[in-house]
Formats: sequence, C-alpha cells, structure tokens
Amino acid sequence: MTKIFALTTRGLESISAAEIAELEGVSITETSYRRIAAECSGPLAPLLTLRTVDDIYLDLDHWDGVFHTRDMLAQFNAWSDHLDVQQAAAEIRNVRPIPEKLIFSISVSFIGKRNYTADEVKLAVADSITFTHGWTYTPDDREANLNIRVFIEHEEAYIGVRLGSHAQHERLYKMVERPGALKPTVAAAMLRLVDVQAGQRLLDPCCGSGTILIEAALMGASVQGGDNDPDAVKATLQNMKDAEVQGQVEQWDARVLPLRDGSNKRIVTNLPWGRQTFVNEELGSFYTQVCGEMERIIAAEGRIAILTSTPHLLHFNYLQLIQSLEISLFGQNPTISIYGTTR
Ligand SMILES: C[S@@+](CC[C@H](N)C(=O)[O-])C[C@H]1O[C@@H](n2cnc3c(N)ncnc32)[C@H](O)[C@@H]1O
Repeated sequence: MTKIFALTTRGLESISAAEIAELEGVSITETSYRRIAAECSGPLAPLLTLRTVDDIYLDLDHWDGVFHTRDMLAQFNAWSDHLDVQQAAAEIRNVRPIPEKLIFSISVSFIGKRNYTADEVKLAVADSITFTHGWTYTPDDREANLNIRVFIEHEEAYIGVRLGSHAQHERLYKMVERPGALKPTVAAAMLRLVDVQAGQRLLDPCCGSGTILIEAALMGASVQGGDNDPDAVKATLQNMKDAEVQGQVEQWDARVLPLRDGSNKRIVTNLPWGRQTFVNEELGSFYTQVCGEMERIIAAEGRIAILTSTPHLLHFNYLQLIQSLEISLFGQNPTISIYGTTR
C-alpha cells in the first residue's frame, strides 16, 4: 500500500477527491485544505492521468510542531535526515526513468506568518538530503529529476516526492498564453462539475486561449468556441493543434452568438472579470447580454458552468443556480457558478 497525497486549488478539494477516488485501488483517507491524502494498492502511473489536481506526491513524512520561530530551520534540517527519499525514488523508477545520480529541487509553501522564508526552509532540507544521500540540489525545478514538496499548514507539515517529472497543472500542450488564461486543472474541474461526457457538445463562448475547449476535447467532447479577439482565436487554434485535438473556433461576439436556440447541452466558460481581460462596456450590461445568449442556447436539462469574480452580475430569467463554489485563483477568490433548469 503506497501512501500518496495530492495538492489542488483551494475550493476544489471535493472535486479532486472524487476524481482520485475513481481510480482503481485508490482509497481516500483524508480531505483537508488544498490536500487530499489517499492509499494506493495498485500501480501508481494512473495517478498521472488526473486532471483536476495541481500535483501528486508520494507521502514521505508528516511533521508536527512546526512553529513560526527561526529555530525551526535547524529542526527542518534534523527531521529531513530521516526522510526515506531512496524508497520514494525506487517507487518513482517504476513509473518513469530517473538516473542513479539524482538532481533534486524543493518546493515549499505555507500559510500563516513565519520568521523564516520558503527559501530558508528549502536550504535546510536540501542540506540534509545532499549530506545524507549525496544527491545534487538545484533551485531550478526544470533541471531536477525529483521534486520534494514541503507543504506547511499551520503547525503541521506534509512532505512528499512528486510522482511526475513536472507539475501536474502544467499541461504540455499549452504553448500560447494570453492574459487571463485559465489554470487547466480548474477548467477540468468545471467540466466535471457539469458532468461533460465523451461525444457531448461543449460550448465556450469566450474561449481566450482555449483551455476549457482543449480540456473538454481531451475528455472526448465535441467542442465549439469563440472569442471577439482575433488573437485569442489564433491562440486557441494553435493550442488545439499542439494538444492534437479538434474543434470549431470562430471570431464572434458572445452577446449575439450564431447558434440555434437550445442547441447545446453544456456551456462552460470563464467570463472576462474586467481586470486582466476587458469588455468595451459596463461589465454588468455585458454579463446580462451574455447570460441572455447562454440561456437561449442551452438545451432543456442542460448545464452551464461560469467562472467569474463577480457572480452577482450573472443574470438568468429561468435558469436556477444549482451550485456555487468559491475557489482561490490568481490571488483572488472567484466563484464557479453552475446553472440549470433542474437540480
Ligand atoms: C477570462 S478570458 C478567458 C480565458 C480562457 N478561459 C483561457 O483559458 O484563456 C475572457 C475572454 O473573453 C473574451 N471576450 C471579451 N468580450 C467578448 C465578447 N463580446 N465576445 C466574445 N468574447 C469576448 C476576451 O477576449 C477574453 O479572451
């Protein structure tokens, strides 16, 4: 039985836990702030197919009594002497090739004020691992064969070794980035929230660089989208090509869409927030018009998922709010709102 933990976007913990629980031989043991712990009795490679999590780690250790004082740095160093990184490396070798002479990086995150920095924690842990195992430390994750994660939550720390060669939220397909581009894991979570199925039509009327469309296409949906900015349309087409998926992408105005009434069962979109991406009018009026179009286009018993930092501006005449989830993203707390005719 291998103990693992996943880190996810704040607010998406239950969605990621559900996705993890679908894997054969995996049982969830704990779901807490941004972290899902599980036990895995089968092969580990399928964990790398998860789409809503930021990362998956082999569970190395749990440290209790992590205070804010600087004397913790010596304690981190001492605790790190006992980390069984060799066993973790052996398990990872069953999933992907890594050299004998290992180069490792460290990622550190914490909540709450501390009298030490993340970089100081990295050095304290790196110093111990270099000394104990003769591995080489690099501050640049792109050069590393293994990444060690120290996730400090109040007075507890969870230590893991990343299963994959790169962070799970970094998709290899994403080449052309635009302002306001969505985190792919959040796009995948939105698609799960409206239960997008293979073969189903999926529409994103404000597609930007195409993250939602690509994630949906990778799930087997038949995707259509557009944006009023021709550069966004170009970026989406390029990203789709890189991701080796197909779909219909057009330059259009989401307030007057060239689509039939009731023609789509699923609409998933990340509307402009008026911060990184702008609209040429008052945001409230733009939202009212786009919501009107989505309400016209959505099929009976369809579902709409919308990510925005101003959910109070969403306005539908007959669709009901079914679910609302606040998440943390880009230092803000936007909401994913799910609308439909039936609960
Ligand atoms: C928040 S971004 C979408 C980001 C996208 N999810 C991604 O991953 O790149 C909102 C998009 O809405 C587009 N937009 C603004 N006004 C529009 C309109 N009237 N019709 C269609 N798209 C519009 C912007 O050009 C921008 O690309």
